[in-house]
Amino acid sequence: MITALNTQFGISGQLSFCEDASGLIVAEINNALGSASLCLQGAHLMTWQPKSQSVPVVWLSKDAKMAAGKSIRGGAPVCWPWFGAHATQSSFSGHGYARTVPWQVIESGTEPNGATRLTLRLVESEQTRAQWPHDCNVDLTVIVGDTLRMEMTTENTGTSDFVIGEALHTYLQIGDIGSVRVTGLEGCEYWDKVGGSNLRKQDGAISFAGETDRVYINSAAECVIHDEQLKRRIHIAKSGSLSTVVWTPWVEKANKMGDMGQPDGWREMVCVESANAIDNLVTVAAGTRHTLIVEYRAESV
Ligand code: BG6
Repeated sequence: MITALNTQFGISGQLSFCEDASGLIVAEINNALGSASLCLQGAHLMTWQPKSQSVPVVWLSKDAKMAAGKSIRGGAPVCWPWFGAHATQSSFSGHGYARTVPWQVIESGTEPNGATRLTLRLVESEQTRAQWPHDCNVDLTVIVGDTLRMEMTTENTGTSDFVIGEALHTYLQIGDIGSVRVTGLEGCEYWDKVGGSNLRKQDGAISFAGETDRVYINSAAECVIHDEQLKRRIHIAKSGSLSTVVWTPWVEKANKMGDMGQPDGWREMVCVESANAIDNLVTVAAGTRHTLIVEYRAESV
């Protein structure tokens, strides 16, 4: 399997595949512009660090566990074909099944600027069909360089329309949650998932002093994480996404989760997720496709 992947999709000096101790297969990318790793299960980007930064930009918990059928804590989990709890089936996993099932590599290559491109396709099975009985292809392309670009395409290959919720649930590495600000969502409405589900309006930049779990709706704008400790800004620009989820578990919830990196790994991450959720679910008409694109860029200040 590994040999076949390396023969067909490996790129000398840039992209190779290896098996983790858990038996999961990981794509390792390292080029002149940046490095990244991606687990084929879940098409789960785990790490990304541009060469211009001394600290990774994507956060992976030091207690992240890799296991068949389990989501990895950190990186960029792919939430699809629903976001959060399933609308009617409480036994279906939160955030959909895409992040815990096998994906297969379908293409790799080098961009003109030297960045490395890798495309994966979700592998359907009886288990996925039982939860999502629609004909479709779901592809994720990652382009790893000085920026990180992720493109998720849902193609409806069937004869009837379907509706999806989705997110690239990216964990970003920060100096400390108490001292960062997120801009780009000023004046937006959001569903506040802490203490019930209330619709509120964002006043000014976002700063953090407790558990924060918000789904901003009708927001296509670029978001920026301002990080004075790490002396950088992380820019998150997107298209095909009208919701932005901002999440930090804070101490109590983090302690209960058990894989956030004790004692205070949670302080060094914030999720700014590019999504289509709640008011912004997407109807993918029969025979059409929908693409969500996000590009991350770190700027030293
Ligand atoms: C966020 C949700 O997107 O993901 C939160 O808004 C949730 O409610 C968080 O707690 C983490 O989810 P999970 O399933 O990866 O633990």
